[in-house]
Amino acid sequence: MNKHNTLILLCLFSLTSCVVMKPPQCDLEQPDCLRQTYAAPSRYWPKPTVDDGVEYKELKATNRTVFIQNKKAVELGKTLFFDPRLSSDNTISCASCHQPQHGFADTNKVSFGVMGRTGRRNAPSLLHLYAGKQEGYFWDGRAETIEKQAVMPIADTNEMNMPLNRLPERLYQLGYEKDFQEAFNAPIDLETIGQALAEYEKTIRPEKTRFDQFLEGSFSALTDQEIWGLHLFRTKGRCMNCHYGEAMTDGKFHNLNETYYGRDFQDLGKYEITQNPDDYGKFKTPGLRGLNKTKPWFHHGLYVNLRGVVNIYNMGMPRAKVPVNADEIHKQNHLDPLIKPLNMTREEMNALTKFLETL
Ligand code: HEC
Ligand code: HEC
Repeated sequence: MNKHNTLILLCLFSLTSCVVMKPPQCDLEQPDCLRQTYAAPSRYWPKPTVDDGVEYKELKATNRTVFIQNKKAVELGKTLFFDPRLSSDNTISCASCHQPQHGFADTNKVSFGVMGRTGRRNAPSLLHLYAGKQEGYFWDGRAETIEKQAVMPIADTNEMNMPLNRLPERLYQLGYEKDFQEAFNAPIDLETIGQALAEYEKTIRPEKTRFDQFLEGSFSALTDQEIWGLHLFRTKGRCMNCHYGEAMTDGKFHNLNETYYGRDFQDLGKYEITQNPDDYGKFKTPGLRGLNKTKPWFHHGLYVNLRGVVNIYNMGMPRAKVPVNADEIHKQNHLDPLIKPLNMTREEMNALTKFLETL
């Protein structure tokens, strides 16, 4: 039996709200009970399993209301986002790798830039950017703000390969002067270019899914198995320790033993930028909206199967063997303490996977 009665006390203070707030007295292992529990507004859901100090926010339907302060800037940013003439050979735009039909990611392990060049990491979805400021941008957090991030792929030799000192001049040649004047009453420079792209990026929203419909009150939108998966995501699976809130990310950086130290795909994440041992192997928590369309997953793009991802989380993210002659830093255990073996059954892992597919 798995009863929860945390809200009962409130009945003592107010008899009227007692009727509303009383949680269902039922067995959460029964599908009917789970459905009844999760059909209530999320503030009455069972408390998620998160460790002390995790300031989680509850999962939430996508807020589709877009507040636009500067319409001209958003339109300009959108035009720039889709314009391949910002790249050195006129072939690659932001949208080449951040494709709207793929959750603003792409389907390659690593993306292709100008002349077929490849970088070392998987293109992340941009569906979380609207949901507020994060601790940093890129998998390793090397950009402080979305505005600063936005011009970096333009300069990246593996991406758009356009030297930034030539970029404003290029945009003048392409006839963008009037648009910048109208949007910012300012000349074309790296700051206004970054600002325009960021203004557009913040208007991007995930598509509405069955999960949103469920959260908005269509309780038949999810199957019993998917609701069970939602419950596991929030409780036994411990996923809410890092993937929470509307965009399903804490915007922070964690080590999940995915450095591939000493092997082909070695990537030490944030540590490569800061050289701070605390940052060893840390990567940014991606948002999980649009997951079905952003395959493959993780910073390396090596995971192609969601059930497999659930499986390695269940095992507690085991670490590969480190060569005996490695430096001390590589030998230490850097796994985030929020990651623990989960002891889920096969059926539980299947249900959790089904839930992820509704995102
Ligand atoms: C050649 C493919 C490619 C192109 C072109 C490209 N990106 Fe990216 N983008 C990536 C990859 C790969 C990453 C992750 C790189 C990393 O973390 O080191 C990324 C990361 C990002 C992020 C970070 C998201 C986050 O939450 O940390 C943003 C924002 C972004 N790109 C926006 C843009 C914009 C704006 C443009 C156009 C000016 C652009 N990208 C062009 C592949 C691309
Ligand atoms: C300690 C924080 C943490 C916890 C707990 C956690 N994740 Fe993650 N998750 C991350 C980070 C960080 C990444 C990216 C790691 C990387 O690329 O090296 C990630 C990546 C993912 C991805 C790949 C997304 C993409 O777009 O590439 C999926 C799917 C995912 N997590 C699902 C889950 C599920 C399901 C759970 C619960 C069983 C969970 N996570 C628990 C931090 C966490």
